[in-house]
Amino acid sequence: MLSVFFVKLLKAKTLRERCVKCGFCTYYVNCPGEEDCHGCGSCVDACPYEAKVLLKVEVPDRYITLRINGEKHQVPRGFTVLKALELIDFKISRLPGGGDICTPCMTGGCWSCAVLVNGSLKPSCITPAREGMEIVTRADEVVKRTPLRLVSSFQGHPVGGVGTPYWLKPKEPFYRYIEVACFAHGCILRCPSCQNWEITYSSNEDPLTPFQAAYLLTETRRLYNVDRMAISGGEPTLNRRWLVEFVRSLKTLNVDERARIHIDTNAVVLTPDYIDELVEAGMTDIGVDVKGLRLETFMRITGIRDRELAKKMLENEWNTVKYVVDKYWGKVFIGVGIPYNRVFMSFEELYEIGSRLASIEPNLQVCALDYRPEFRARHLRRPSFEEMLKVKKILEDSGLKVVICQTVRGHILPAT
Ligand code: FES
Repeated sequence: MLSVFFVKLLKAKTLRERCVKCGFCTYYVNCPGEEDCHGCGSCVDACPYEAKVLLKVEVPDRYITLRINGEKHQVPRGFTVLKALELIDFKISRLPGGGDICTPCMTGGCWSCAVLVNGSLKPSCITPAREGMEIVTRADEVVKRTPLRLVSSFQGHPVGGVGTPYWLKPKEPFYRYIEVACFAHGCILRCPSCQNWEITYSSNEDPLTPFQAAYLLTETRRLYNVDRMAISGGEPTLNRRWLVEFVRSLKTLNVDERARIHIDTNAVVLTPDYIDELVEAGMTDIGVDVKGLRLETFMRITGIRDRELAKKMLENEWNTVKYVVDKYWGKVFIGVGIPYNRVFMSFEELYEIGSRLASIEPNLQVCALDYRPEFRARHLRRPSFEEMLKVKKILEDSGLKVVICQTVRGHILPAT
């Protein structure tokens, strides 16, 4: 008599009592459905109502054969390509440089984890492993392919971002466009109050090459007749090869001196050599969010629970501000954003953030962002106009000379 063995697999389940049938996991998440779930977890991260969970289920063991870098391997059926690679001892890391495969977003947006599957680039984190697949992970082979990632929502922008100089921002709410922007999908953070979650977590789109995205943004620039082109997200810096080529392509397509290339980032994966590469490629403006000064605040805002990882990310944010100011002040425009809500941080910490930024450069442009209820933090109360006036005064008292506040009534600009 034959024995039946079982393996434990992760499978997504919907918590019916929480699900409001918004359809996000069905229409925006690239998912084969619960019946064919491979446990990638992207629906769990994406669901704004936290109605998806991963459960361990036991299933009869059925193996599939994959050829990985030319060698045959057997893995249980029901895994993603990434899980299969992990199972045969590939080292996976969230931050770049820490393993064989870097997986910052894990939701199919950034394509940093892309490997060759049957000859085509595919994001390993969400691609189901199937019988007979030929998988190539070797960097020398992967780099021969043009990088890809998901980018969408090419559009005109009336106020720009934190890296847009204040003197270009409209004094009255919305009367002209000053910038065009596109949005990269996927983020390494898990902010419960993500202000752009529909883009961050959606993965059901066709990926673009850097040139395709640069061409679309250039055409959008022509349509809106502006000089500034921005990439935001999600987090645009996650896929370094893609972003550097995108910036280079934008520079090639926009040779006029007025063209500005602006990157809006949380800066948690940026390093000095990466920043240098972006500047060399053509980046002219950068907006950096600093999500707190204290580690607990950073973890509260970003939803990152691993203290060591959070510590590294927070350091990278602050190091980016200092590095860009020290090396590129006057050459690259830098603006800093502070996500503000009283639930995130006290006025005392806000003052400390302002003091630290002022010690780097008192004329640094700093924009306090009034975080509204969004995504999984619908209980937040958007700061009132009067509260944001107080925030502005605290930041100015800390020594900063150029403070902007985003408020429910539009931006309050510096007096200068
Ligand atoms: S980690 Fe796989 S797409 Fe971002």
